[in-house]
Formats: sequence, C-alpha cells, structure tokens
Amino acid sequence: MNQINQTQPRHIPVLVDEVCTFLISDPSGTYVDGTFGLGGHTRALSSLLNPDATLIGIDQDRSALDQLSPDSIQQDLHLVCTNFENLSQVLKDLHIAKVDGILLDLGLNSFSLDDPERGFAFGLTGPLDMRFDRDNPLTAQRVVNGYSEKALADIIYRYGEERYSRRIARRIVQMRMDKPLTTSDELKEAVVRSVDRRFQNKSLARVFQAIRIEVNRELEVLETILQTALDVLSPQGRIAVISYHSLEDRMVKNFFRDRSMDVPLQPGMRDDEVRIPFLKRISKKPVIASDDEIAANPRARSAKLRVAERTNHAS
Ligand SMILES: C[S@@+](CC[C@H](N)C(=O)[O-])C[C@H]1O[C@@H](n2cnc3c(N)ncnc32)[C@H](O)[C@@H]1O
Repeated sequence: MNQINQTQPRHIPVLVDEVCTFLISDPSGTYVDGTFGLGGHTRALSSLLNPDATLIGIDQDRSALDQLSPDSIQQDLHLVCTNFENLSQVLKDLHIAKVDGILLDLGLNSFSLDDPERGFAFGLTGPLDMRFDRDNPLTAQRVVNGYSEKALADIIYRYGEERYSRRIARRIVQMRMDKPLTTSDELKEAVVRSVDRRFQNKSLARVFQAIRIEVNRELEVLETILQTALDVLSPQGRIAVISYHSLEDRMVKNFFRDRSMDVPLQPGMRDDEVRIPFLKRISKKPVIASDDEIAANPRARSAKLRVAERTNHAS
C-alpha cells in the first residue's frame, strides 16, 4: 500500500472534478500523473478508480515526492523521480505497454513557489535557481550571467512575450559587469530599472517566467511528451493538459488540432493513403475554472484544461 501524507504543505489541485470526469475511461485502467506534485490529482483519481487500477506518478522535483507518508492509496502506485519527457522509458522499466490516461498539470507546485530557496518568485528573496530538477546543471544564475545580451533578449521576448526585452537584457548585462547577479532581488532590480513603474509587475512576471522556461526547457519537454502520448495511449485513452500560460496552451491546442485532422484526399491518392487522425478533441474550447473555484484557489484563474482522446487507429 502506498502512502500520501495528509499533513503535507497544501496545494489545492486545479479543475480536479473536470480532470477526473474527462480522464477516467476504464476504472481498472492504468493512469499516468506526469506532474505528481503533492499528489492532489492522483489522490482524486485514486478515490474514483477500482483497487486493481494502476497509477504512475512522475515528478522531476524530488522534494515534492519526498512529501509522501501516512494516508492510503489502495491501488498500485509507482512513483518515479524523472522528467516526464522520459515517459516511454518509465513505462518500459515498469513493463507497461499502454496506458488509459495521462494527466499533465504544468508549472510548479505551491510548495516550491513559496520556498525562497528555489528562486521562482520575484516577491521573495532567494538565490537565482529556478530549477524543477535540482540535479539540472543549468540554473537561472547561469542563464542570467552566462548568456549573451542577444540570447537573453531573445529568451525574454520569446518565452516571456515581454516587449521591453532588449532594454531588460541590456540592463542585466550592465549590472553583471560590476558583479554577477546571484539573487532574485538583483534580477528584479534589473527589470524595475528598465521598465516604467506602470508596467513593472507584468514585466517582472514575464521575465521570471521566461528564465524559468529556459532553465527547465519547458516547451521542449512538453512537445516530447505530447508526441509520446500518441505512442503509449490505448485506443480511447485520453490525455488531459492543464496549462497556465499562453505559450503552453498554444502548443497543446495546435498539437491536438493538427493530430485531429485527416489529410484531405489528394488526386491520385489511394483510400488507404489517407492519414487517419491520431486524436479526437474532447472539446475545442479549453475548460476553465468556475468563479467559485477561482475564489477558493486564485491559482486556478489562469488554468486552461484541454483534453484529447486517442483514436482506434494505429499510428
Ligand atoms: C502544478 S504542480 C502539480 C500539482 C499536482 N497536480 C497536485 O495536485 O499536487 C506541477 C508539478 O510538476 C512538476 N513538473 C513540472 N514539469 C515537469 C516535467 N517536465 N517533468 C516532471 N515533473 C514536472 C513540478 O515539479 C511540480 O511538482
């Protein structure tokens, strides 16, 4: 029997009822929570699954998985500390060929966000770290002090969609000529000194987001797991993704849309050459949180849930 601690730091799972409703097709099936965090969604899934179901929880942040202890999950629960981009290998190691559902609740858990030592929040003083996986050699400090001005500006523009990216990158480079930036306060100062007071909070959020995405290769690993899902989902198995910013949501939306389309019959093409769609979108519009959920959990405000189902056809 597996144990999940009830007294662990609180992280309220987002859109939990919707996730369970959309994801569970076979109550005795095999389900992957690719972003286990503090186990909120896994616990909810567990309460609705049969005892012979199998759960696989993945998180690259060991401190999240380390929160486990008393409280029971009656199903088999395999916890693996790795990046979800390695899902194929995880399943191979567990001798599991196909799964019935995959959940991704992207981003970071409140426990890490609230820990100043992790350097994720611009409202807290801490080292410039921002790694989900503490064994990752690339820290925010290395990005901020090691990348060229152009590379920094490009990252801040591309991953933060920040229009003052060039100015902010120039300021970072000027500041680091005196001494390397080592704390979240110093990165904050670079932004505050570059941007008009009216825009500072938004710019801070965008710059911290951009550096975090770069450190953790967040878009690259998302693309990989979406592709892997096509291989490992059983027919009628579903993937549910909750994203919290537009770059991730756009990637999920486009992936689901593109893999849901037939290739139109070209003149001269045989019927069996028409590509059958890999996925069926469960809803074209994202599912968002109700006003009541947002009032109880402000983190739900920016959440967008998209769900797609694997079609019957082999790839
Ligand atoms: C929003 S939290 C998930 C919270 C969880 N659903 C719950 O209810 O407790 C996201 C978690 O995913 C993890 N994570 C983010 N990207 C990951 C990746 N590429 N591979 C593995 N874990 C990842 C983070 O470390 C964090 O613990």
